Amino acid sequence: MSAALPLRLNNSPLSPTTHFMNHLLSIEQLSAREIQSLLESAAYLKRQRGRDGTQLAGQTWALIFTKSSTRTRVSFEVGIRELGGFPMFLSKNDIQLGRGEPIKDTARVLGRMVHGAIIRTFAQQDVVEFSEFSGIPTINALTDDEHPCQILADLLTIQEKLGGWENRKIAFIGDGFSNMTRSWMWAAKHLGFELAVASPVSCQPPADFLTELDAPNVTITADPVAAATGAHVINTDVWLSMGQEGQQEKELEFADYQVESGLLSNAAPDHIVLHCLPAYRGKEISEEVLELHANTIFQQAENRLHAQKAILVALAKSR
Ligand code: CP
Ligand code: NVA
Repeated sequence: MSAALPLRLNNSPLSPTTHFMNHLLSIEQLSAREIQSLLESAAYLKRQRGRDGTQLAGQTWALIFTKSSTRTRVSFEVGIRELGGFPMFLSKNDIQLGRGEPIKDTARVLGRMVHGAIIRTFAQQDVVEFSEFSGIPTINALTDDEHPCQILADLLTIQEKLGGWENRKIAFIGDGFSNMTRSWMWAAKHLGFELAVASPVSCQPPADFLTELDAPNVTITADPVAAATGAHVINTDVWLSMGQEGQQEKELEFADYQVESGLLSNAAPDHIVLHCLPAYRGKEISEEVLELHANTIFQQAENRLHAQKAILVALAKSR
């Protein structure tokens, strides 16, 4: 945990660093202090749940989604309401964006009407462009590059279940260069924990990404047993991310990468299993393991709400 004592602003603990955050576009761009402050705020808001907040009073936040979602949409809509604001869900098919209106024009229109935007889409650049042209706080709710809201919820879950990540080994078994793994690798870079990624060679991060990451605490292997051995957290995700549904040949490469009881026998005795969900039982995770670790996995899903409320509070203060 951060040594810095959090300031209390409007009944929520936020460090000065968090106070000046304008957007939440990636884990890559966050500092360790911002991550720690968001997690402290999330834990506080979780304890306070049921006492309605006013941090977003009078504000409308748009959710612009061009991919499917259960957890992200519901947790943001509930979180915005619990903070006193009004969520406006805008599916791509319902707005002119879906008929080719440019992102920058959509951004300039919404920036004059709503107070913040939460975007789930394919290209990271679209979220960056929206943030630049709208002039309002913008949150990445998943792109092909990153899933920062999920990683904050995952870190909160690790704090709750294991007391933190110091001297812990975290393993990720699956697609080594998905939005989830990329966000995990940046989190490891910032926070310094040991991260072992096991992935088929064809799905491993390219050398130029690893050079840019420059994190000796992140190791990449094709051997799932090597990654799982001694790990305190075993993390996985779908083999085919949204937008890759037709790539059956890619899926075939993952036959040896299922998180199942045999693989977990190599992990640390007090290990936990994380899955961002949705899960495909019998593929990236066995039915048995998912149900055995359901308590943690659905706590992880609930923590999306608390982590995202912390993001919303931090961004509302930056306006
Ligand atoms: N984990 C996650 O982002 O779930 P959804 O796709 O349901 O939002
Ligand atoms: N990597 C997955 C995450 C889903 C929450 C995807 O992009 O589909």
